[in-house]
Amino acid sequence: MNTPETHPPVDLRGTTATVTARVEAAMRHDLTTALAGCDPLLGEIVHYALFNGGKRIRPLLTVLCSRCCGRDDAELYQLAAAFEYLHVATLVHDDVIDRAEQRRGTPTVVARHGLTAAILAGDWLHAHSMHLIGKLAGGRGLEIFCQATASMVNGEFAQLRLIGDITGTEQQYFEVIRQKTGNLIRSTCSIGALFAGADEARRTALATYGDRIGAAFQVVDDLLDFLGSAHRTGKTIGNDFIEGKLTLPLLHALERADDQDRHTLNQLLTGDRTRTEAYRQLVDLIGRYAGFDSAAQTARQLVAEAIQALAPFHASGQEGENVALLKQLAEYILARTK
Ligand code: IPE
Ligand code: IPE
Ligand code: MG
Ligand code: MG
Repeated sequence: MNTPETHPPVDLRGTTATVTARVEAAMRHDLTTALAGCDPLLGEIVHYALFNGGKRIRPLLTVLCSRCCGRDDAELYQLAAAFEYLHVATLVHDDVIDRAEQRRGTPTVVARHGLTAAILAGDWLHAHSMHLIGKLAGGRGLEIFCQATASMVNGEFAQLRLIGDITGTEQQYFEVIRQKTGNLIRSTCSIGALFAGADEARRTALATYGDRIGAAFQVVDDLLDFLGSAHRTGKTIGNDFIEGKLTLPLLHALERADDQDRHTLNQLLTGDRTRTEAYRQLVDLIGRYAGFDSAAQTARQLVAEAIQALAPFHASGQEGENVALLKQLAEYILARTK
């Protein structure tokens, strides 16, 4: 995407690498104590799920949001680690729900260790994450965090309701993605700001930024499920269709299809979705109604809104530098292939 705004030259890749290294060090240090006395299999699964090439976007967001509100200390990396714990807990459980076999290029926890282990390890990560947030971000932080988690559960239920239902609407889709993905990403930003003692205007600006990039992130994820490469995403391509999920490109096509194509789409969705030929036909029909281009345009619009939300911040100094990194991160979300 072309950058619509100018900002000081910043190095997102380099910053991501240094922040990731600090967050991972905080996680390893914390886990040594937190897992002491726990069953060795739990420890093995937690390490397996955590240290396998995740992009670490949520902890990066917490760090950048806190930094642009003026706080950067050792505790910040522990707080950021808590968000990665929660994120990974949701991934471990999500892979149970979606019957997914590949995650971050390796077998999912459920595929490798079975259902019971996946449920329990996800629960442990979730509980430990809540403990850390309460300790580091206080009652208000924990409240935001729990609201985001509750909303995620609700989003998964809403998604379940829409499985294979061709009467689903784009509005319902946006509601689902805000709840299941957006609110957690939003909370990484607003809790980062809260942790730094930011004023109301900055907290609101960062929450809005998080809300928009969170939605864009899921739109892009849903596009990658069709157009990405398994080698890059580390996940099985086409799994959303197999699971009967109505994501934005498909909804766009459904809303515009003529009667015959709508009938075909319905048959594909309600028939055997594991057939390669069914998937090929679906992709072809979506492409014919410009469903992929339209979803990409929606993601661009959301990112533009995210960048717009950062207007209250100063463009210079430490604040400006971190805001510039947040802008680059928003643009990266559009361009990402993994
Ligand atoms: C995957 O998140 C789950 C979604 C909300 C789409 P990421 O794409 O951030 O996954 P990792 O952490 O990099 O593996
Ligand atoms: C995100 O949706 C799910 C979460 C809330 C964790 P997806 O089901 O699309 O995520 P991936 O594609 O499995 O990572
Ligand atoms: Mg999934
Ligand atoms: Mg997905």
